[in-house]
Amino acid sequence: MTYGWAAVCPATQWHTLRRWASVRYSQAKQACFRRKGFHSRTGRVCTFIAKVRPMAHYLVTGGAGFIGSHLSTELVRRGHRVRVADSLITGKRSNLDHIPEVEFVQGDLADAGFARSVAQGCDYVLHQAAIPSVPRSVKDPITSNRANIDATLNMLVAARDAGARRLVFAGSSSAYGDTPTLPKHEGMPSNPLSPYALQKVVGEQYLQMFTRLYGLETVSIRYFNVFGARQDPSSPYSGVISVFATALLDNCSPKIYGDGEQTRDFTYVTNVVDGVLRACEAPAASGEVINVATGGRISLNTLFKSMRDIIGGHLEPTYVEARQGDVRDSQADISKAKALLGYEPGVSFEEGLRDTIAWYRTARAAATA
Ligand code: UD1
Repeated sequence: MTYGWAAVCPATQWHTLRRWASVRYSQAKQACFRRKGFHSRTGRVCTFIAKVRPMAHYLVTGGAGFIGSHLSTELVRRGHRVRVADSLITGKRSNLDHIPEVEFVQGDLADAGFARSVAQGCDYVLHQAAIPSVPRSVKDPITSNRANIDATLNMLVAARDAGARRLVFAGSSSAYGDTPTLPKHEGMPSNPLSPYALQKVVGEQYLQMFTRLYGLETVSIRYFNVFGARQDPSSPYSGVISVFATALLDNCSPKIYGDGEQTRDFTYVTNVVDGVLRACEAPAASGEVINVATGGRISLNTLFKSMRDIIGGHLEPTYVEARQGDVRDSQADISKAKALLGYEPGVSFEEGLRDTIAWYRTARAAATA
């Protein structure tokens, strides 16, 4: 572990300290001079130098994907060293364009040699790489098994052998299946309804076994329908908010599978980033499975209307047959995350939805300009 230098502007000390924690003083100073907005706001030159908190080395697998790229962005912002390993099957290299500090390595984590090489020297492994789709796993369970189970086992072995301090895994709310109890708490038995859900449960169990057997610290974070900027809307397996946003902005009628009364605990991506980064440090979290979500429940019909209100227009959805393996209701009990991680969903669903739609609007304008 190394320490970073920061140039601290007297007028905005904390903000600047965080922003520049990862760079050497000379780089920080040069970068500050380049940032006209920063200096015109303060009217001051950065003169004060401070030694700041330790930098750690993070491996983010799947870091060129939606959630992985948000994690990488926040880690860079906090001044850490970040290596991203991604196959680019679902991720995009361009998701990292805004953080050139990241070391990028392309490869397949189902190849044990590749997993071993990328884990070298890392303090923390954030294992986000997956084929994250229920319907895709129903259609092609073998490919999905390789990406979601083989790669996870390889990463566990690699993290153990590299002496990583902790591995944090992207679990899924799909583990709960259709158990009638709401909200879903971690003590409930899992009931996977799709290969994807089963693979995520197996991943969690592998993590707990590695903690017991080899002493590798692990945490599984169960994500609940995460949404936000950079979620790819272009595949038939894309998350519903990205699909609805794109359709409504293109003035097309979105499809609703089933009657639209199924509910989801939609979670804005920055809340997930906060939960995962807390899970790296929280002493009592090792060996645990923890829900990270908003803690609410919104039907697809309500979601559609909220999005149409924000975007405008009079489109109606097209109702089609319900999807195989689809869960009816999903809502998280987040009391364990609050207790063990000090987690609170800092951004509400409504605020996150507005920000997300604004992002898709801007991205669309840029693409059509
Ligand atoms: C599930 C998991 C989620 C996981 C994701 C990975 C649950 C409760 N959630 O999400 O944690 O990250 O898999 O794929 O199991 N829908 C439409 N129209 C569309 C697209 C989707 O009506 O164009 C519907 C789906 O049928 C579903 C809901 O919207 O009922 C959400 O779908 P989606 O965003 O794909 O995620 P889940 O499958 O719920």
